[in-house]
Amino acid sequence: MITKETIEKVLDTARIEEVVGDFVDLKKRGTSLIGNCPFHNEKTPSFHVSVAKGIYKCFGCGAGGDSLKFVMELEKYSYPEAIRYLADKYNVPIEEVQRSPAQLAAQDKRESLYVLSAWAGKYFKEQLWTTEVGQSIGLSYFKERGYREEIIKKFDLGYSPDQWTIMSDAAVAAGFHKDYLKEIGLSIERDDGSIYDRFRGRVMFPIHNLTGRIIGYGGRTLKTEKSVPKYVNSPESEIYHKSDVLYGLNFAKKAIMDKDTCYLVEGYADVISMHQAGVENVVSSSGTSLTTGQIRLIARFTKNVVILYDGDAAGIKASLRGTDMLLEEGLNVKVLLFPDGNDPDSYVQKYGSTAFKDYIDKHQEDFIFYKTSILLKDTGGDPIKRAEVIRDVVQSIALIPDEIKVSVFIQQCSRLLDIEERVLLTELNKMRLQKAKAQEKKEQAAPRPSFGDGPPMDMPPADFFLTESERTEIGLPPAEAVQVITAEILQEREIVRILLNYGAEMATWEGDGDVPVAPLLLSALDDVTFEDKPSAFIVDVFKKKAEDFEIPEAKFFFSHEDKDVQDLAITCVSTPYELSPNWNDDKRKIYVTLEREHLKELTIQAVYRIKKRKVEREMIKVQEELKAGGSEADMDILISKYQKLKEAEKLLGTFLGNIVVK
Ligand code: CTP
Ligand code: MN
Repeated sequence: MITKETIEKVLDTARIEEVVGDFVDLKKRGTSLIGNCPFHNEKTPSFHVSVAKGIYKCFGCGAGGDSLKFVMELEKYSYPEAIRYLADKYNVPIEEVQRSPAQLAAQDKRESLYVLSAWAGKYFKEQLWTTEVGQSIGLSYFKERGYREEIIKKFDLGYSPDQWTIMSDAAVAAGFHKDYLKEIGLSIERDDGSIYDRFRGRVMFPIHNLTGRIIGYGGRTLKTEKSVPKYVNSPESEIYHKSDVLYGLNFAKKAIMDKDTCYLVEGYADVISMHQAGVENVVSSSGTSLTTGQIRLIARFTKNVVILYDGDAAGIKASLRGTDMLLEEGLNVKVLLFPDGNDPDSYVQKYGSTAFKDYIDKHQEDFIFYKTSILLKDTGGDPIKRAEVIRDVVQSIALIPDEIKVSVFIQQCSRLLDIEERVLLTELNKMRLQKAKAQEKKEQAAPRPSFGDGPPMDMPPADFFLTESERTEIGLPPAEAVQVITAEILQEREIVRILLNYGAEMATWEGDGDVPVAPLLLSALDDVTFEDKPSAFIVDVFKKKAEDFEIPEAKFFFSHEDKDVQDLAITCVSTPYELSPNWNDDKRKIYVTLEREHLKELTIQAVYRIKKRKVEREMIKVQEELKAGGSEADMDILISKYQKLKEAEKLLGTFLGNIVVK
């Protein structure tokens, strides 16, 4: 552990303008320095550095903090990594807290394992490049697969000779202890205590950690016999925790941040081929299913994940399984399938990098839609199976922590599944409630932490230890309020979605000639009050602008200070409504695909739905007034009012039912 004194010294020494200045071209303006923000794309500088206060602040994206925060955010360093970086920059010697001999030994041991691992990496590389068998078997294999020399070098690929003890012998001769060779699994011990090589006659793929040190290996056989396992992998060790490692991340992290997307593939070969094709934001979970640790690792760099799988049944099923976890961690998940049993590696080798890039740009599908369509295909119209699909899909949606995204998905799946939003919502809210209850039970079962003798280190908030019923008693809201999304919210957001995506487009239906969608929509909804706050806000801006005959663009809301408004706007326009053409085997899907060509139906439907709900509410109110009683004349008025409403409701219902879905 780094001492407190060192940390203080580093923070005292670090000068914000110098730390930032390494990454940003700063110019003096007034009392502060300004430049283009490194955290978001901009052409006019809104990134300010205050030398006096030692802080930075971007007025475009809101990023802000001190020197330490800057390097942590920009380079994705952990706290100690950032301290070490700054200490190194300013030549502050790092003092570590005195550790016990056991701790020191553990540290020494880990370090030795790293050194051994690196040594082996060098050994396998030398075998590949400088020995005759290495060249004729290993190197020629890589070249046959289409790998160029620089990519083979970049990934530290190597070759392990097809002999029993050659590597182990060399390691021992180089001074490495047998125990360490066993510990990281380079060697395996026989009953008689002697050791032999784990990797024999294989091409070697070293696995690096985030800082680029080798921590394990995957070795691929060059034999075709079924009896030989295709891959042999290093076992877990003190330096290799499989669940926290993603193959290729050290090479990919910068590209992942730049592109704000991470491609997830199955194998080593896919990662390497994609790099060679110039797509560097790619990692692999190395054939195992994803772990939460790996997902959090990705989430440090981006929230957008695209899963690339070969189009066989196993690949598809595998992608369905791993994905719920990604959703739960709040990542945006897309799926991309390759045709004819190709995987990313074979596709890029067959068709070249331009065609490959083109393909991955065009064929990404939102996971939820993908899942819906895959599952729907299997039902064959069986209503029971259909009900299962609906539950299954809603279950995935229920995992998504972002409420606005949830509402958009519900809307869209309601179209794909040809089922009313209301039904999906009921299911969704039921699931959320169940989950919340289960959570509550778990919390009640767990013993409450006690403070012991001394004062607590971090005092929790005063209401931390209250049970749910105690909370209700004193009028506190539930600890984790269950978010309920209503059909009303969805309807309002649908209006916002139409406004943002198509507001400026000309309404082309008869009689309405050259009027854009936005003013038409707004005038139709003049008497409707929006309840969903971000929706109300956006509609309001549209109304205000309409007075000057202006139609705001969606991007106007993207950097709005209210995060809910921002999220709603971004989600509304970024969810790809146009699905890929191969979904066209169903009428509903054609409708979704060609949404733009059906703006009329879309708009009318959205308006009628909101109106219908208004009428329904009015009816309930009148009913209650009727129940309350009154003079005969009053009652008559109420009754005729009720009948009018009833008629209106029927009319709207018929309209909605009759809208032809082309
Ligand atoms: N894998 C493994 N053991 C196996 C098969 C596969 O550990 N017996 C892991 C490897 O990490 C491999 C990944 O699963 O990279 C994907 O498998 P596969 O597609 O068969 O491997 P590739 O790396 O694509 O190898 P190749 O293209 O050379 O067949
Ligand atoms: Mn492969």
